[in-house]
Amino acid sequence: MRELKILIVVVFFSLVTYWGVEPFAHSQMHKHVESGEFQYKDMPAVAEGDAAKGGELVMANCVACHAITSQGVAAPMDPVTASTSYGVNPPDLSNAGAIFASNYLAAFIADPAKASNVSHKFPEGSGKSHPMPAYNWMAPEDIANIVTYLKSIAKAELTPKEVFIDACGRCHAARYDGKVMGEKWTQIGQKEKFKYEKDSLAYDIQVLEYQDNLKKYMGKLPPDLSIIIRARSENFLETFIENPQTQLEGTAMPAVGLTKESYEKVMKHLENIGDPSKPERDGLGIWFLLYTAIFTVLAVLWKKSVWKKLH
Ligand code: HEC
Ligand code: HEC
Repeated sequence: MRELKILIVVVFFSLVTYWGVEPFAHSQMHKHVESGEFQYKDMPAVAEGDAAKGGELVMANCVACHAITSQGVAAPMDPVTASTSYGVNPPDLSNAGAIFASNYLAAFIADPAKASNVSHKFPEGSGKSHPMPAYNWMAPEDIANIVTYLKSIAKAELTPKEVFIDACGRCHAARYDGKVMGEKWTQIGQKEKFKYEKDSLAYDIQVLEYQDNLKKYMGKLPPDLSIIIRARSENFLETFIENPQTQLEGTAMPAVGLTKESYEKVMKHLENIGDPSKPERDGLGIWFLLYTAIFTVLAVLWKKSVWKKLH
């Protein structure tokens, strides 16, 4: 019976450590920030507008910097040249209406620095300003028309990677995003495997040039996100992406204005590249516990039978 008592004590403490101590230590080490559920409650809701009027405004104001490939509007510059002018490549707007929350989009068009919470990077009198002009000279109805237009052209179903590219891909690389060695996501696009080393190096030089401009604009190079899903907790990622300032005060990363749904897609993408075996592993946990339990019982029985012979 002594073995049974020892077993019970061991099991008890294992469970306490598993469910109690680890999560407790974790919560003490990390600041807990409440998620706003990607509602952006401080930004007013946008009324349904006139998509046709919005389309005209977009063609007159936005395509000088942004591509809208789904509408046949190509990027006015290649990513590296764009980064020379703006510090970063302005994203394609084909699916902006689905990726970003409508009230955030309207607030961003009216005042990009304020909406994305990076006004501190462009203090008054510094001569610096956000690379995208503020359209607060437009009537709110016209901004609503633009938002309605962007929503009307957006695809209904976006893949996790499509959301990542338009929302994060201009700033963040993902070096494990590829099926074979040499493939990866870079800030200027998906690098495929080149046949000749010379072409591969030429591509890398373009990436470095882009990164230099991005570094100047951001103050530092945004980190590669390949394995961030393993390094940071879900609460950190959710609240950081919703509003980076809550977790890192003064950070250069803008709030991106994702909807809850597009945030989930971005996470799915980061999981796909950073932790592709997670679903399998999650399913494995219960089998491991079962294995341990059966093994323990067998060990106890075996020990008993050995001792019986000796007595
Ligand atoms: C002078 C160039 C320029 C013009 C004109 C311009 N933008 Fe931008 N826009 C940018 C740049 C640069 C960025 C990326 C800024 C960053 O990531 O810090 C951007 C980002 C965006 C984003 C992404 C927002 C986010 O949270 O990630 C949207 C949406 C957008 N612009 C919409 C528009 C719309 C709509 C118009 C026209 C009304 C417009 N832009 C006009 C340069 C421009
Ligand atoms: C305009 C550029 C820009 C965009 C767009 C952007 N980020 Fe960032 N991001 C940064 C910068 C700069 C940092 C470094 C912040 C710092 O250290 O202060 C960063 C840091 C991060 C970090 C690391 C935080 C940490 O300390 O662990 C995560 C995670 C992250 N970004 C996720 C995202 C995701 C997801 C998206 C798209 C939804 C995104 N970012 C879009 C610029 C950007």
